[in-house]
Amino acid sequence: MKNYIWIAITLFCFFDAAGQDKKWWRATVVYQIYPQSFKDADGDGIGDLKGITQKIDYLHQLGVETIWINPFYKSPGLDNGYDIADYLAIDPQYGTMADFDALLAGLKKRKMHLIMDMVLNHTSSEHEWFRQGSSSRQSPFHDFYIWQKGNRDSLPNNWPSIFGGSAWTWNEQTREYYLHMFLDKQPDLNWDNPLVRQSLYKMMRFWLDKGVDGFRLDAISLISKNKSFPPMDLSKGIFAALNGNVNNGPHLHRYLHEMNDQVLRKYNVFTVGEVYTDKDSAWQYVAPARNEISAIHFFDGLWLSGKTTGIPFKNTMDGWNTALSGKQSWNTVILTNHDYPRAVSRIGNDSMYRVESAKMLGAFLLTYRGTPFIFQGEELGMTNYPFNNISEIKDVTAHTGFAALQQQGMSDSAAFVVIAMTTRDNARTPIQWDASPNAGFTTAEKPWLSVNPDFTNINAASQQADTMSVLHFYARLIALRKANPVLIYGDFEDKSPKDPSLYVYTRTLKTKQWQIVLNMTATEVDYTVPTTGKLVLSSYGKKGQNDAPSVLRPYEARIYRLH
Ligand code: GLC
Repeated sequence: MKNYIWIAITLFCFFDAAGQDKKWWRATVVYQIYPQSFKDADGDGIGDLKGITQKIDYLHQLGVETIWINPFYKSPGLDNGYDIADYLAIDPQYGTMADFDALLAGLKKRKMHLIMDMVLNHTSSEHEWFRQGSSSRQSPFHDFYIWQKGNRDSLPNNWPSIFGGSAWTWNEQTREYYLHMFLDKQPDLNWDNPLVRQSLYKMMRFWLDKGVDGFRLDAISLISKNKSFPPMDLSKGIFAALNGNVNNGPHLHRYLHEMNDQVLRKYNVFTVGEVYTDKDSAWQYVAPARNEISAIHFFDGLWLSGKTTGIPFKNTMDGWNTALSGKQSWNTVILTNHDYPRAVSRIGNDSMYRVESAKMLGAFLLTYRGTPFIFQGEELGMTNYPFNNISEIKDVTAHTGFAALQQQGMSDSAAFVVIAMTTRDNARTPIQWDASPNAGFTTAEKPWLSVNPDFTNINAASQQADTMSVLHFYARLIALRKANPVLIYGDFEDKSPKDPSLYVYTRTLKTKQWQIVLNMTATEVDYTVPTTGKLVLSSYGKKGQNDAPSVLRPYEARIYRLH
């Protein structure tokens, strides 16, 4: 009997009357840090761990509770750290293990969480496993990677690398091809080898035992390959071709379940997978009863652009929300990351309504159902970089993409326009802290990637001083979310699915109901102010000011408490 009472109390603590699972990571707000570009403490032009530690208070004041940091493991840096040479070492450009420990301690002191970026699909070709495994077929590490016999002149099959070209590269020492879904210097690990899985699990435990609160699992949907290596039908695009063979492959869910069983479930952690899947299959990753991972990032939202705001935006978001809306399923809300151009430039309007559209997107991010992910600088309304020349771009995929467009017969200038608009470097420029040289990011003469010249106008210091800034609006939204569980756990309903301009939705939890109204356009739109509504926040109003005419101004966002 005693046991039953105890079980009932435990369940009550985790699931409230509305059946909501109150895991910490459902209520948290995540802030993504791209370490190269966040803050440079040692003056070498590259952001580092000490720099992040210096800025914990900035994040804490913003109200952020969890940070996700992109890879800072030892790496040759050909794909900015996603090519890991040693999972257990910090790359010297970011500092030392002592710097890491100090950062973690600083976060814990403020009850903040840290999730690390974990790259389990591939390593760097400089990783010891690959060095040894590629030197001889007899090496115990040979089977850590995926090989196909053949000869130099004929590729094993037509599988493409996501970064362009073939997924196979010839290795002269063993006279075989190895598989890589990204760069040729990023060989894919052989997850079918239990030793590979055990080695990765051991390494994950190392970080979790240090007190890390979870992982963003890079390219995790790619880990299981179809080892019969059938030819792919590339006519419907690369992702359709990869599906079932490389992406969402044969043993993927078995491996995720095993990883959960052997590692994750022993810690109170948050795992968010970078997953390419359709919304109807997404539950397989996150349904709690399956014991795989906590949540995923879906990419339909990240691929949206300005041309698709309004109904396509709403359809995409609502579709995913419905797919992951069972009481125990959970979603994430994300508009951009280090792989996509800036949200305000892509979906918002950075020419005429930068501040307004950045606030509107922030209101969406922080009131929609799911764990919100803010990408560094989004809280300042930072914009894409005005690239003039391909040589200004470091992103390796921009260069391979540029060459591919040239090969297809595009002129240099036309190819450059495409690349400048889409390159990942748009989001990777240094954070603009203030109006001093190099935006206060570094004391070096030259940062690793140029600071956006708009930094004198857009920077954290000036926005801290301005209560109408994007930064202040984000802080208000985060505080509002934290203080009102209806914004976290409340059921979602789209009240305007057919409206091309307005996104109106409610969040409802027991007797509480809130209504969020977003004008997604640059024009004024008539709007009937809800009679029972009390305006809690408007992106146009001063703090506390109840300024709510029955017309929504360009990109205006309003939040009403209905009852
Ligand atoms: C993920 C990362 C991206 C990286 C790739 C290969 O997509 O987000 O930045 O290039 O994986 O690791």
